[in-house]
Amino acid sequence: MAPATRYALAAAALAQAATAAGVIEMPITFRNTYAMVSVEAGTPAEEHFLRLDTGSASTWFVDKKCAQGACDNYSGSPRVGYDVDASSTGEQIGNSSTVDYLGGQIAGPSVRDTFRAGGATWNQTFLNVDESSFAQIPGDGFLGLAFDSISDGATHTVPETLLAEGALAQPRFGLYMGTELNDTNGRPGDGALTLGGSREDKYVDGEMTWLPVMKDGTPRDYQLWRAPLLKFSGSHQGADGQTVSRGRDWEGDFKASGVFDTGAGSISVPSLDVYLMYQSIGWDFAAILSHEHIPLCTEFNATWSVTFSFAGGPGDKYRDVVLTGDQLAVPGFANRDDACWPPFESGNQDGFFLFGTPLLNQFYTVYDFGGSKPEEYTPRIGFGQLKKEFKPRI
Ligand SMILES: *[C@@H]1O[C@H](CO)[C@@H](O)[C@H](O)[C@H]1NC(C)=O
Ligand SMILES: *[C@@H]1O[C@H](CO)[C@@H](O)[C@H](O)[C@H]1NC(C)=O
Ligand SMILES: *[C@@H]1O[C@H](CO)[C@@H](O)[C@H](O)[C@H]1NC(C)=O
Ligand SMILES: *[C@@H]1O[C@H](CO)[C@@H](O)[C@H](O)[C@H]1NC(C)=O
Ligand SMILES: *[C@@H]1O[C@H](CO)[C@@H](O)[C@H](O)[C@H]1NC(C)=O
Repeated sequence: MAPATRYALAAAALAQAATAAGVIEMPITFRNTYAMVSVEAGTPAEEHFLRLDTGSASTWFVDKKCAQGACDNYSGSPRVGYDVDASSTGEQIGNSSTVDYLGGQIAGPSVRDTFRAGGATWNQTFLNVDESSFAQIPGDGFLGLAFDSISDGATHTVPETLLAEGALAQPRFGLYMGTELNDTNGRPGDGALTLGGSREDKYVDGEMTWLPVMKDGTPRDYQLWRAPLLKFSGSHQGADGQTVSRGRDWEGDFKASGVFDTGAGSISVPSLDVYLMYQSIGWDFAAILSHEHIPLCTEFNATWSVTFSFAGGPGDKYRDVVLTGDQLAVPGFANRDDACWPPFESGNQDGFFLFGTPLLNQFYTVYDFGGSKPEEYTPRIGFGQLKKEFKPRI
């Protein structure tokens, strides 16, 4: 037997083992600050880069025409289109959908085809998009990681497809974004999406903080990775060197909540609370809006911090997620390398906080369904402080 064939067989055996263990590792590639994973789809297989999005549920990528100019592309990255007719394993499933996101819109028919990633092979439904306004996305589409209850066009999410097939060792996925959060130069960085397990033992220093996930909509259902928020506070050093703390407490009212969304590039705070949020860290939001205050990256330091207190259990009323100022530094504001993006944006909806990448990139996160069937789900989301060697570089 030729050596090449022997190696191929050994690789195939390893892939089998990975699948049998029910844990699928998908390395993360950063392109222009977007976290992407790749899947191989169809027969013959073609590789597609998909943006990780815990804030939506559909998996989609562009079709051939959309990739070749029918859809706007200002991303500076190549796009690979998928053609269901060119794949011997692809089929239309007779549905289609138009999906509205906060930042764009897509539309296309629903299809089913073979997916391969991390040594596993499975049949996956997704939208084969012929219209997309996501001109800036440096890849082919999205991998939606919110709940299947909000998937579009009769498709199912990747995690819940694998869960329903009994292909995952545990009903969860873990996410480590990596040390390099800007661009990994066309290769995977050190971040990974782990389907069917989580790697706290490797990445996390200390205990995980688990937040309960709440239901949404009518009838009530798990839709997003959303947790009830009881209060927030910020603290900084006042002129006299004393620590000054301020915040808002919805004590017992369950009036606020936060959605954890890797598809959002900011932390958005309701407009009613955003001035107080800035005051709490010693900054003036009006001065930022009027460009009198261009935040320098040196102003993002550990002398200030923000604490989001989510609902806990019987023994612990609050479960806190804490960020220090240095962790919130994202350079590039006002086209300057020494200026950093204002840490909070103003949102419209009262009581609605959106926690995007500036928060999520700082933690090891675990998205746990807590059961293998939708009727058995008791979902929670876990946050772990990264060990020193895994902390992102600014
Ligand atoms: C981020 O990556 C882009 C390429 O996508 C590069 O042009 C830019 O200089 C990088 N910025 C930093 C701060 O490294
Ligand atoms: C998308 O645009 C970039 C240039 O901005 C180009 O390099 C790339 O080839 C385009 N992708 C496709 C599939 O045309
Ligand atoms: C995918 O579905 C086809 C048709 O139903 C079936 O023949 C094939 O075995 C399935 N493949 C996997 C990996 O489940
Ligand atoms: C999918 O298509 C079938 C047949 O047209 C229809 O009955 C069903 O409601 C559609 N499902 C979704 C979720 O769009
Ligand atoms: C830390 O940041 C604050 C602004 O948030 C700034 O006033 C202070 O000078 C900074 N401290 C250091 C040591 O850079």
